[in-house]
Amino acid sequence: MQRLIQAVINAGHGHVFQWWHTLDDAGKQSLLQQISLIDIAYLSDLYRSRREKAPAPSLQEITPAAVIGLPKSEEESVLHLGARRIGEKALQAGEVAAFVVAGGQATRLGVDVPKGAMEITPVKRKPIFQTHAEKILALSKRHGRSIPFYIMTSESNDRPTREFFEKNRNFGLDPANIFYFCQGMMPALDFEGKLVLDAKDHIFTSPNGHGGSIFALQRSGALDDMKRRGIKYIFYFQVDNVLINLADPVFLGYHIEAGAEMSAKVTAKRDAEEKVGVICQVNGKTTVIEYSDLSDEQRYAKNPDGSLRFSAGSIAIHVLNVDFVERLNLKENTLPFHIAEKAIPHLSSEGKLVKPRKKNGLKFEMFVFDALSLAEKTVVMEVDRNEEFAPVKNAEGEDSPQTARDLMVRLYAKWLNDAGAPVPRDKQGNVLGAIEISPLFALDFEELRSKLPLSYEVRLPLYLGP
Ligand code: UD1
Repeated sequence: MQRLIQAVINAGHGHVFQWWHTLDDAGKQSLLQQISLIDIAYLSDLYRSRREKAPAPSLQEITPAAVIGLPKSEEESVLHLGARRIGEKALQAGEVAAFVVAGGQATRLGVDVPKGAMEITPVKRKPIFQTHAEKILALSKRHGRSIPFYIMTSESNDRPTREFFEKNRNFGLDPANIFYFCQGMMPALDFEGKLVLDAKDHIFTSPNGHGGSIFALQRSGALDDMKRRGIKYIFYFQVDNVLINLADPVFLGYHIEAGAEMSAKVTAKRDAEEKVGVICQVNGKTTVIEYSDLSDEQRYAKNPDGSLRFSAGSIAIHVLNVDFVERLNLKENTLPFHIAEKAIPHLSSEGKLVKPRKKNGLKFEMFVFDALSLAEKTVVMEVDRNEEFAPVKNAEGEDSPQTARDLMVRLYAKWLNDAGAPVPRDKQGNVLGAIEISPLFALDFEELRSKLPLSYEVRLPLYLGP
């Protein structure tokens, strides 16, 4: 014990023992236990190198990624169909797992429940998690094989997430097919490079980024569980996308057909300013450049026809091979840490918790898309954002619950219209009420069309459920 304390003092973090004399044995034990798990030397390296960030690639060094576009010809539709068949085969063989990253702290949303527990759907106000669960149920039924659901949480929302599922009887999923695990945590540092106490016996830590999922999958036993079940492909998505086309067989099919190790979906960026990472090629490797890291020159670069040169917006949907994730775990520190200045809660000199508004320290996060450049082969596929992307990030305005609901209504209205059931609209074309179609009624347009009676009259609000 003495040796550990001395090592921490020698490394310049003696202040974490400031309240030692006031702690009981349990408090002392828990602080020491936490410190023993922190790699202080590595943290110091990260701190020292914080300004040595490799310069972002110049405009000349990056090229747009090769993207499988939306089918525009008969020939391309046939290719899509071929890919769909391959993906469906993998689903029927039970080779696909659904994996949601839900460890974020939903800071921008300002809610105190896990983001997945937020009520979201336009008519029934079903929570986000239920929309995902119903898709998994519907897919399992369609393909005759259950799709196991892996849910990554973090320290602060793990228990509420599990309890939420239990309270709702797992939304119909078999609990044997749900695997929860916590992602890793990472201590923050203040601007002087010192650890920060947020209680007298606790050092402030925060989730280590969704890139931490690569390592948490292994550490938690989730990868072993997948191998036991014969899973080869992990369908990765973010909890906040309520229009997720879960386990999309076309995407899976292209990935499998190409022998890729990790793949990504993109949509054409709405405009140069949209806050999504951009997928491109840097030195021949598929790479996501985060929106904050793009230079203005890159952000606004245009093609001769006036369209954006770097328009492949990452919607954070990936397929990863189980083998690939295993390989990434063979070495330490495979993914880099990104450093962000944040407001870090800390103790005042009187030992009271202070939650500052201003940035006062550094948080360290790994990003899953950094694994793309480590894959031998990747596939990047474009999808229609109106059909697959409705992220819930902010409480109001852009990417909020309201915009997500509007996007759902718009999509379901289009399905109904295309299936021959006109939807009441105003003169501007806005739908005159709410529509919700449960995945248990129809997972996609084709299924809706096959189920809708002839001359079906749409009355709003409309809910089509099981
Ligand atoms: C993210 C992507 C961005 C992409 C956009 C699409 C990053 C850095 N950027 O932006 O490229 O275009 O989504 O919607 O990811 N999460 C964890 N653990 C963590 C941190 C996050 O599980 O430690 C999960 C969150 O629960 C959420 C997802 O990761 O499901 C995204 O996190 P968020 O911080 O909201 O990323 P964005 O900045 O919105």
